[in-house]
Order: sequence, then C-alpha cells, then structure tokens
Amino acid sequence: MLSANQINLFTQDGFMALSPFASPADTAVIRSTCNRLLAEQVGREAGDHFDLSGQSKNLKMAALPQIMNPSKYVPELSELGYRRQACSLAELLLGPDITLLNEHMIMKPAFHGGQTPWHQDQAYHDPGLIYTNVNIWLALADATIENGCMQYVPGSHKMDVLPHHPIGHNPQAVGLEVDQPQQYAAQAKVCPVSAGGVVVHRSYMLHYAGPNQTDRCRPAYVLVYGCEPRRRARSLNFSWLTGRHDGVKTS
Ligand code: NI
Repeated sequence: MLSANQINLFTQDGFMALSPFASPADTAVIRSTCNRLLAEQVGREAGDHFDLSGQSKNLKMAALPQIMNPSKYVPELSELGYRRQACSLAELLLGPDITLLNEHMIMKPAFHGGQTPWHQDQAYHDPGLIYTNVNIWLALADATIENGCMQYVPGSHKMDVLPHHPIGHNPQAVGLEVDQPQQYAAQAKVCPVSAGGVVVHRSYMLHYAGPNQTDRCRPAYVLVYGCEPRRRARSLNFSWLTGRHDGVKTS
C-alpha cells in the first residue's frame, strides 16, 4: 500500500495525499449517505449534528455542518471495504495496536461553506494525555483550493499543542482556531485531492481548509485511528476548553 519512501516522508512532514484510494463504489455510497444525513438533519437532537463554525442554529444555513459518529445511524458504513482499507493504512503508519477513535462527516456547502481555521486536533482533547493518532480524510468530491481542500504546515506535528481559541472568539462555536494563525498560513502546503482520494495527517499537525467559493459542495468523511493515549507527567492547561461540555471530540 505504501513505499518506504512514502512512510519516511510521512514521518518527516506529518501528512500525505493518496489518490486514488477508496473505490468509486464506496466513495459513492459514503457520499450519498452524507447527503442524506445532512438533508434529514440526522443526529441533531443527540448533539451529533451541528454547525462547527457556530454561526447558525439553523442547520440548513450552517457554514460547516458536521455529523459525528455517522455509522451509529448507518451501520453499513462500518462494513464497507473502505473501512478495512483505512484501518490497514493506519496500521502501516502506527502499528497493530490501534482503534478507531473518531468518525465524522463534514461538509462545506456551495458558495457559503466557511473556512476551517488553522488548528491542531489535539487542542480539542484531554490536556492530560499524549496522543498518537492518524486522521484519514476522504474526499467525497474533488477537493481543490477553490472549494476548501486541506492545507498543512509540514513538520508542525512535531510541536506540542499551541494556544487556541473558539472560532471568531465566539464562545458558542464548537470549532477552535490556533492563536495568531497568520504566521502559519505563509508556510502552508496545499493538498488538493480527487474524489476517492485521502489526505492523512498525524496528531498535532497544524491544518486548515479554506472557504468554499464554488457552486459545488465539498463533503469529506474522516476516520481517526490511534494508539492508547499516554498520560503526561504534567497536564497542560487548555484554557479554551474551560466551560465546554466534553462530549465533542472533533478534529
Ligand atoms: Ni482538524
């Protein structure tokens, strides 16, 4: 599945793109599932379906609609060949002792899909733990710089968690943004990928996705695999998580 050179580059840069990766059939099934769950607002009452940007309570107007744990609502997602492929990829990168830690779908709607600001996924998580994860981001439509493909700062996965704040300094926003993001934007590596391709990144990687300025939506399906986290000798202080409920484990 991967050459030694690809694994070495991933270790060095902390991210990679693999395209194609998922079969066209699996990509089509996941995409239609994503469209249906969004249209029917599945998971809203359970708190699994929300606007990551925090801009709208009306999900039809959401700038970043996100659905957590979609296979809870559509168990067939777990049976797809893609799930086995993604798990095998994570095992190649992290070893055999991994579990699926997080699953979600995220959409950037046509014309008004908002940016996903620069952040590290670990800023959402337990400040007392050290994580060893990979985030496998499957493009369900062609992801381009115009519609908000992923961008990374090469090597930034070697940093610890940086200070973050809620998007727009809006305490209602679930999403987080690193402080002083402009200093990282200048180092960004843009990662466009075709439908069915994946981009993969390590824990602690700084990443961003721009707004969707096109007339087509940009859906993605994210699986996060990881090893059992280790306890830090001394817990960090994630002031940006103070007062939030800890049920949201997004990325
Ligand atoms: Ni993320």
